[in-house]
Amino acid sequence: MYTKELSTQVGQTVTLKGWVANKRESKTVVFINLRDGLGMCQCILSYDDVGEEQFATAKSLGQESSIAVTGKVVEDTRQIGGFELHCTDLKVYQNASDYPITNKEHGVEFLVDNRHLWLRSRRQWAIMRVRNAIIYGIHNFFQSEGFVQMDAPVFTGNAAEGTTDLFETDYYGKPAYLTQSGQLYGEAMAMAMGKIYTFGPTFRAEKSKTRRHLSEFWMIEPEVAFCDIFENMDLIERFLRSVVQEVVAKCPLEMELLGRDISKLETVSKPFPRLSYAEAVAILKGEKNIEGQNSLEVIQSDLDATITRQAECEAEIAEREAAIAAGGMKKGAINFNQNKIDSLKNEIKQLEEDQRNLPQWLASARDFTYGNDFGGSDETVLTRLFDLPIMVYDWPHEIKAFYMKRNPEDPRFARGVDVLAPEGYGEIVGGGERETSEEWLVEKIEEHKLPMDVFQWYLDLRRYGSVPHSGFGLGLERLVAWICKLDHVRETIPFPRYYGRLEP
Ligand code: 4AD
Ligand code: MG
Repeated sequence: MYTKELSTQVGQTVTLKGWVANKRESKTVVFINLRDGLGMCQCILSYDDVGEEQFATAKSLGQESSIAVTGKVVEDTRQIGGFELHCTDLKVYQNASDYPITNKEHGVEFLVDNRHLWLRSRRQWAIMRVRNAIIYGIHNFFQSEGFVQMDAPVFTGNAAEGTTDLFETDYYGKPAYLTQSGQLYGEAMAMAMGKIYTFGPTFRAEKSKTRRHLSEFWMIEPEVAFCDIFENMDLIERFLRSVVQEVVAKCPLEMELLGRDISKLETVSKPFPRLSYAEAVAILKGEKNIEGQNSLEVIQSDLDATITRQAECEAEIAEREAAIAAGGMKKGAINFNQNKIDSLKNEIKQLEEDQRNLPQWLASARDFTYGNDFGGSDETVLTRLFDLPIMVYDWPHEIKAFYMKRNPEDPRFARGVDVLAPEGYGEIVGGGERETSEEWLVEKIEEHKLPMDVFQWYLDLRRYGSVPHSGFGLGLERLVAWICKLDHVRETIPFPRYYGRLEP
């Protein structure tokens, strides 16, 4: 029996198996918050009901002890999950002690070091369930639109997205790379099946620590034959709207646990603004306003807000410290105040980081050179002005991948499209229309100094029934980060791999 099924068992006696998330006790009653992976249930073990021996055992249970409890299901809407169990029996699988992750504030490095345990925490539980709902929503969307899911190879000889961030491995004495993108194979499969999507692990040697880069991440790459860049943007919009709406509908509890304001996600029902690169640059540089808002002014006011907030945090810390120092406070209240102080101190650290970053972001936006690619901070500044994802298309061809189609009306631009998520999240999707001409592609492959021989099969796609086609790649972890409103992608995947991190 799982906690999820309790609503069908009111008044019945059932057995739940799980872990002790936390525990309170009085002289004659032990209250255990049992976590069974699917949900939570408060279990009440009273001396009178379980007897002396089991009562003593219940009292001795440490956090994360594994147990089975049998008892009567009672409805209680005040409890998480809405039910409690009045226990008559307790079985202990293991009585655990000194569980490293307590209800205290922990530093994030400590938590990542203990990722194998951190996954059990409430927030992480919620994030992993949202990730699961997103994955389900993605398959649901593509399957219902008639796409065929394909698995692209992980070992490859082709660099799809430039050669700087490839992981090289030894493939029977020959160099091979871990895939950076399944796209090229997706294009081949789209010519066979009409429309396909890949969903697989992707590897990029990103030798820098940012909040949006992983070395191993999961990418979803649809590819559609007879589709131009504008139809591609329609598809992206329909797709993201469908996934976000499905997740919001399916995960109200998770969203609540994460403190996610879902009204910020419900905006996806509106059309996504589509901006050319040139328009996006003008907005970024503060030369063009969006609904009366100027990018540089908004960032300046964000900066001012961090200073105000820091003063508030410092005042609250001082107040709580004084209350503790005054003495006479109960142990529980001291712990409560100390936890608040620790969490305010963590907030101040973040605010100080913002105060270092925001002036740099401001300068980099103001001084942005037309023709460059957007950096992470530029995307943050730009998306700060919008409350739904924006699509930036028609990029200077020099900064885009070799396979991008040129705009036939203005060949300075390539028909790429990036989707930037709002609230400062930035790029979650990169895609575009593919070059159809063999001649142009050969030229581009040479220009990018890629080895021509490994692209012969790819050029075959332009030799035998070449058609206009488009696609895109969505970074799963970046979508999870935005939907859950997380500071960093490391919390979006069970065991993150990023520069400097291989364990656990
Ligand atoms: O923009 P990118 O590099 O595009 C491609 O790989 C294309 N071949 C996709 C296509 O058209 N089929 O990557 C696509 C997305 C990015 O928008 C981002 O969401 C994610 O993949 N991404 C990363 N996510 C986490 N860590 C990284 N290091 C990432 N690099 C890209
Ligand atoms: Mg990109």
